[in-house]
Amino acid sequence: MNRILGVLISGRGSNLQALIDAIKHGRLDATIAVVISNREDASGLERARQAGIEAICISHHGWLSRDDYDRALVDELRRRNVGLVCLAGFMRVVGSPLLDAYPNAIVNVHPSLLPSFAGVDAQRKALDHGVKVSGVTVHLVTAELDDGPIILQRVVRVLDDDRPETLADRILQEEHLAYPTAVGLLLDGEWRIEGRRFLRARTSAAR
Ligand code: GRF
Repeated sequence: MNRILGVLISGRGSNLQALIDAIKHGRLDATIAVVISNREDASGLERARQAGIEAICISHHGWLSRDDYDRALVDELRRRNVGLVCLAGFMRVVGSPLLDAYPNAIVNVHPSLLPSFAGVDAQRKALDHGVKVSGVTVHLVTAELDDGPIILQRVVRVLDDDRPETLADRILQEEHLAYPTAVGLLLDGEWRIEGRRFLRARTSAAR
């Protein structure tokens, strides 16, 4: 996998910003070749342009099938020699054309400790369930929603007076730390997948 990233977004792009900042400050050795949003009004597009990164909208409307849309994404990513696809608030299920084009090379950040609270509204689900800790999961993307091998997790305590917004804010702070770190781990390449497990080379050397 090369160090050229393509970032897919649907909204404000604060995790995109975390990647941009980590690259700018030398904490992540990578280049963002393109930011693609499925929504024209995603404010993350403007963040990318402010940082001098090409940012385009490819709407998910008007395609004959989901696969056709995914193939269009693959075309744009390949055209720019993207090696790792970073989902950053991309509100679409990734289908087989994209998964086949980028095996073990699509990464996502999710605002809960997976496998708890997959899907949308994870922070509210955590509060409703009454868990005492939640957090962040960065994982490889597979065909199942929020289910791929876990690269990194960070824990966030749930407070008695939390509302979904306050918990989401604290989780987001952790996302901004965890996401660039996990992307860096992936790019360093010294890892393998065993079953569901993402294992770093260091783990086997330490045995
Ligand atoms: C984040 O909470 C992320 O975990 C989830 O969607 C949200 C996106 O936020 N996948 P942003 O667009 O990166 O600010």
